[in-house]
Amino acid sequence: MSWKIERVEGADLDLDEVLEVYRASGLGERRPIEDRERFAAMLGHANLVLVARDEPGALIGIVRAVSDFSYVTYLSDIAVTLGQQRSGVGRALIAATQAEAPGVKIVLLSAPAAVDYYPRIGFTQHNSAWVLNP
Ligand SMILES: CC(C)(COP(=O)(O)OP(=O)(O)OC[C@H]1O[C@@H](n2cnc3c(N)ncnc32)[C@H](O)[C@@H]1OP(=O)(O)O)[C@@H](O)C(=O)NCCC(=O)NCCS
Repeated sequence: MSWKIERVEGADLDLDEVLEVYRASGLGERRPIEDRERFAAMLGHANLVLVARDEPGALIGIVRAVSDFSYVTYLSDIAVTLGQQRSGVGRALIAATQAEAPGVKIVLLSAPAAVDYYPRIGFTQHNSAWVLNP
């Protein structure tokens, strides 16, 4: 399968198409996909969004991140549709995210299903991540 990765404006994406990728990847269980208004804001306010599309052009993967393009990129979400997982799309999305903010580290909180993924693609574990819930 071949695919293409491009940086996009989150607000320009078709919300239903994006929601379907979250659903079809499994990440939708951990994100507020039922709240369309909130989700549209999540897409619109993320300042570094990349998508992967297959040959006919269907959305098969997405990265939603916030970057200062100088010091740190916070990778909020990465999702690849189930049928396309483990074929290199996730790795390519991360590489493209790095290319958009070169020399800048990527920080993320892993979903439980992906804790073994990040060390495979070069991430190191940080033992002092902290979350302040609203
Ligand atoms: C996690 C995810 C983004 C990875 O994307 P992907 O396109 O499937 O991963 P890749 O094909 O780039 O995988 C690269 C390597 O990691 C391995 N891998 C993929 N998913 C893995 C996982 N969940 N656990 C452990 N290893 C994994 C692949 O087998 C591959 O190994 P290889 O280099 O030996 O061939 C994708 O599987 C996904 O969307 N999962 C569900 C949503 C989710 O949990 N997102 C993370 C939110 S923090």
